[in-house]
Amino acid sequence: MSLSRLIIHQFRNISSATLDFNPKINVVVGPNGSGKTALLEAIYFLGLGRSFRTHLTSRVVEHQSKSFTLFSEIQNNNGSIPIGLQKSKSGETLLKINGGYCKKLANLTQYLPLQLITPEGYTLLSGSPKNRRAFLDWGVFYHDPIFYPNWSRIKRLLKQRNAALKQCKTYNELQIWDNELCLLSEEISQQRQAYFELLMPLVKQTLADFLPDFSITSQFFCGWDKNNKSLQNYLVDNFDRDKQIGYTSAGPQKADLRFKINGIPVSDVLSRGQLKLFVYALRLAQGLFLNSFDNKQCVFLIDDFSSELDQNKQQILAKHIIDSNAQIFISVIATENIDKLFGQEQTVFHVEHGKIKAE
Ligand SMILES: Nc1ncnc2c1ncn2[C@@H]1O[C@H](COP(=O)(O)OP(=O)(O)O)[C@@H](O)[C@H]1O
Ligand SMILES: [Mg+2]
Repeated sequence: MSLSRLIIHQFRNISSATLDFNPKINVVVGPNGSGKTALLEAIYFLGLGRSFRTHLTSRVVEHQSKSFTLFSEIQNNNGSIPIGLQKSKSGETLLKINGGYCKKLANLTQYLPLQLITPEGYTLLSGSPKNRRAFLDWGVFYHDPIFYPNWSRIKRLLKQRNAALKQCKTYNELQIWDNELCLLSEEISQQRQAYFELLMPLVKQTLADFLPDFSITSQFFCGWDKNNKSLQNYLVDNFDRDKQIGYTSAGPQKADLRFKINGIPVSDVLSRGQLKLFVYALRLAQGLFLNSFDNKQCVFLIDDFSSELDQNKQQILAKHIIDSNAQIFISVIATENIDKLFGQEQTVFHVEHGKIKAE
């Protein structure tokens, strides 16, 4: 899957742009505040139906306008799919996929598997488990079609259970949620574990180039200690405490990935630049996985490509990016080294005051 064409109207400071993309490497270059991140944000919006910078549509629509419009053509194994999305400041959404109107923005995710790497991307490792669950689930979602319905059902069950938790007097009143919850939790934990085990060898391969001096261990935590007791037993034993805090404290909603060096979390050992390289290794591995196991092509959005990386690491990273067989959009402030890094296989787009021109 790749994005072959994008037409933008009134998105951030981009009033109007018609762009034909390279199926492999696209470099977006321009000074600070020119609109580079805005362009990546527009692509992200098409892939996921939301921004990575704000929850408010009104921030994304050009200041003087009422709505933004994005129109794209996406190439997949069977041909070209046109997708149009319009969102207004007042909250209306129009989504058209392949000629038909579509109600759910969530339907967009199946057309363009996107990976975003920003200068803040290291929070995948230093931030809360939620970030790492989102990372893991991205891959499981594209790999295993049963995962999404199962996970949606679990989230609904947990919502109902947490509401009941506040009102009930004895554990027995919760049993009605817990039978199904335990069964599905076991299932999605297995799906996550299986994906994790297939992914990690790919991560390790890349890490050997990116951070050769470190020996990193990885572990998937499913959300409760399986070796100790079953989720059902946790739910029973935690009843009083869960009732006090008002939510369910064990289960797949608490899953996490743990990466350590000599028993210490990587976020306490590695520098920001090194953490960034680790995140690149993780996300590139997901792109490779998608390509080799699921026969789909991933799209990478990399904002501020060179920030915090020395020349040597940029070179190694560029090689892995080329080898990943994904479509890449990279933003940079200057193109000085880009030819050297990507061997002129790229298309360069110059951005200035929201105007975008292909080189
Ligand atoms: N809704 C909006 N309408 C018009 N301009 C906006 C809007 N939101 C942000 N901007 C402006 O868009 C410009 C581009 O921002 P950005 O894409 O972050 O720049 P870059 O990534 O190139 O440094 C900034 O000058 C910002 O002030
Ligand atoms: Mg930017």
